[in-house]
Amino acid sequence: MARNLSGKTALVTGASAGIGKAIVKNLVDHGLNVIATGRREAALDALVSKYGTDRVAGIAGDLNDGEFVAELVASASHVDILVSNAGVLKYAPILDLTYDDIEEMVHTNVLGTFRITHEIAKAMVERGRGHIIVMTSTAAREVYPLGSIYCATKHALSAFANALRIELQAKGVKVSEIAPGMVDTDIRESSDHPDVIAALSARKFEPLTPEEVARAVTFALLSSDNCANDLIELRPRGAAS
Ligand SMILES: NC(=O)c1ccc[n+]([C@@H]2O[C@H](COP(=O)([O-])OP(=O)(O)OC[C@H]3O[C@@H](n4cnc5c(N)ncnc54)[C@H](OP(=O)(O)O)[C@@H]3O)[C@@H](O)[C@H]2O)c1
Repeated sequence: MARNLSGKTALVTGASAGIGKAIVKNLVDHGLNVIATGRREAALDALVSKYGTDRVAGIAGDLNDGEFVAELVASASHVDILVSNAGVLKYAPILDLTYDDIEEMVHTNVLGTFRITHEIAKAMVERGRGHIIVMTSTAAREVYPLGSIYCATKHALSAFANALRIELQAKGVKVSEIAPGMVDTDIRESSDHPDVIAALSARKFEPLTPEEVARAVTFALLSSDNCANDLIELRPRGAAS
């Protein structure tokens, strides 16, 4: 039997924009209470105003800041569901990426995601239940030109999700990886290299919508107790490689 999500609580990272914002809406629509986090406080406040303080709480901060993560964990360690979704992307030819670009992607997509997921996973194991959703990408399965370090970070995140699943499955915690292809969000805005702009404008398919990815998240969460959606890959039609 599909699980009833109503009344459960979820922590969603990267909730201030794009896919995370759509996930918050979808979870609220399914009756969950949501703790939404991201750095942009005004965007989180807008979610709280839209859905009400009884359904959404916003906690603003940087996942690369250990003190902030400790505060977030103190307020969110009780959650039934963690959606580890925050991430950054900078596309450029590998030799044109700056060290700052590389560091930001590795810090946010790998270390920042590991830290919050690790802490919330410990609390779930203590209670003997929980579901962790890890947002990777098709970039976790393939390496493509202009996406080098982003692909490396998503490969690392996928390995982390697999490791969590293997070790926590006997402790009542499910781990699902959601791996979308291109989604229509602002994530590519900082990728202004002319090769990237040319490649993006030559694309012959429509990106996925954030809502389509949010529905995949909810599909994984709704699976019955003995059914584990380990990996959901979704691509825009026409983008298979
Ligand atoms: N769009 C795509 O084509 C695509 C495809 C596959 C996978 N994904 C993955 O989906 C996830 C969401 O991406 P998106 O497309 O929705 O991008 P987006 O619109 O740029 O949203 C990224 C989210 O991550 C948060 N974030 C970034 N750095 C953070 C930090 N240091 N601390 C806390 N929060 C941080 C941002 O919040 P603040 O800026 O407010 O901090 C924002 O809410 C990412 O993991 C991305 O890799 C995206």
